[in-house]
Amino acid sequence: MVDSPYIKVKSLYLLDRFDKSVNFMYIEEVIGKIHFLEAPKIVVEPPGPKAIALLKMQEELEGKAVLYPSSIPFVPEEGLGATIKDVDGNTYIDFFSGISVLNFGHSNPYILEKTIEQLKKLAHTLDFPTEYREKLVEKLLLIAPGEMKNRSKVLFGGPTGSDAIESAIKLAKWITRKHAVIAFEGSYHGQTSMSLNLSSGRRFKDPYIPLSPDVYFAPYAYCYRCPFKLEHPECGLRCSDYLEHLIEDPYSGIPTPAAILIEPIQGEGGIIIPPDGFLQRIRRIADKHGIPLIVDEIQAGMGRTGRWFACEHYNVTPDIVTLAKSLGGVGLPLSAIIYRKELDMWEPGAHLGTFRGNVVAMASGYAAIEFAEKIKLLDHVTKLGEEALKYLKDVSLERRSIGEVRGKGLMIALELVKNKDTKEPDKELATKIQIKSFKKGVLVWKAGHYGNVIRLLPPLVITRELMMKGLEILGETIAEIEKTT
Ligand SMILES: Cc1ncc(COP(=O)(O)O)c(C=O)c1O
Repeated sequence: MVDSPYIKVKSLYLLDRFDKSVNFMYIEEVIGKIHFLEAPKIVVEPPGPKAIALLKMQEELEGKAVLYPSSIPFVPEEGLGATIKDVDGNTYIDFFSGISVLNFGHSNPYILEKTIEQLKKLAHTLDFPTEYREKLVEKLLLIAPGEMKNRSKVLFGGPTGSDAIESAIKLAKWITRKHAVIAFEGSYHGQTSMSLNLSSGRRFKDPYIPLSPDVYFAPYAYCYRCPFKLEHPECGLRCSDYLEHLIEDPYSGIPTPAAILIEPIQGEGGIIIPPDGFLQRIRRIADKHGIPLIVDEIQAGMGRTGRWFACEHYNVTPDIVTLAKSLGGVGLPLSAIIYRKELDMWEPGAHLGTFRGNVVAMASGYAAIEFAEKIKLLDHVTKLGEEALKYLKDVSLERRSIGEVRGKGLMIALELVKNKDTKEPDKELATKIQIKSFKKGVLVWKAGHYGNVIRLLPPLVITRELMMKGLEILGETIAEIEKTT
């Protein structure tokens, strides 16, 4: 611990060092110190001997549902900023942040300091108030999207994203006294019975049906693969018309809904970024029919897209927002819902959970927001995201297999196809790219309806240098694989 690099640089992170004149160059200088700067560096072809031993142990001891090591044989040991070392001493650029759990970087020294300070004092408090709990709530209300700002309430439940989804749906059902929920094709909301049924993927749901009843799916604005085979903007957002039809036609077959649940940008669905107008239209439909709109910011929120909440890009104010993943600062489990004050109709004890008082995660979440504000991290995300997107779009012009590049902030996707005209998905290629990038020291993950999307979610503290180095390696890797197929 004493030798760890974050201790060495810790003194740089005392908040009083940051002043109001902080600019982008200075941010680069500051965040430039919190990574293993040699990344990527492969000293032993992964998996090395220690990794092989641990993978073998895991296979023998843990259940078959373990998933991630079946994609890449990665055995992490120590993370710092946007980089991570494996047990054999290889150093990687991390482009997936534990799927957006580590937005503020691995072992961010500033956040870690407050987290450890709290851990030494007190860890668990049910829902008794504590200083950091209320400080975090205050911050969340201040950064809440649109009209929710300072006009909302916060509720903590269980620690996972699925728990936040369950809380939001329960609240909507309580308020409306209705049961049905409308979700969207391509969605992912979790693994508990309700959140699983609100997710669209057949492979997750089929073995467990029947799940919670009364879930209905409407089309999402996935313009690259428009379900109506139309082009935007000539389409006039036909997909949202269909939602309106489902709700307005008394013979559409669906009961009056208790809620509409939507990701402002779909994560697992393949980083689907709806065109301007779609989310606004869903908001208007919800308003017209008095249906609470729940916006799931679990993957796209906490600064990932350059705004605290992705729905802010569309000027849409939700009724309820779900948060988890990076809410816990340095990667601690914590979830919450933020909802408009008028919806605060629950009675004491109407929604519970033992782990709704993880004050260490709360201190960590508070420190993370404070850190991001002090160094204007979201400006960095916007600027770097634009540069990365432009770079990848240029790369895609030369590559026959990149059908589309899309992104907002540091939530970026490459959709891979066998043929740009037919858009036939190329899942095998995505798998090959993931493995080959891993071998070169760049960690990427997959997503998408057909598993053919390379998803990039680097920690937001990544420097321009590391980001561009990682993208270059990714581009070269795709070119090399294209040559051999
Ligand atoms: C948008 C979204 N909602 C909900 C969840 C579920 O979160 P958890 O896995 O913490 O239950 C996820 C997880 O990936 C997600 O991406």
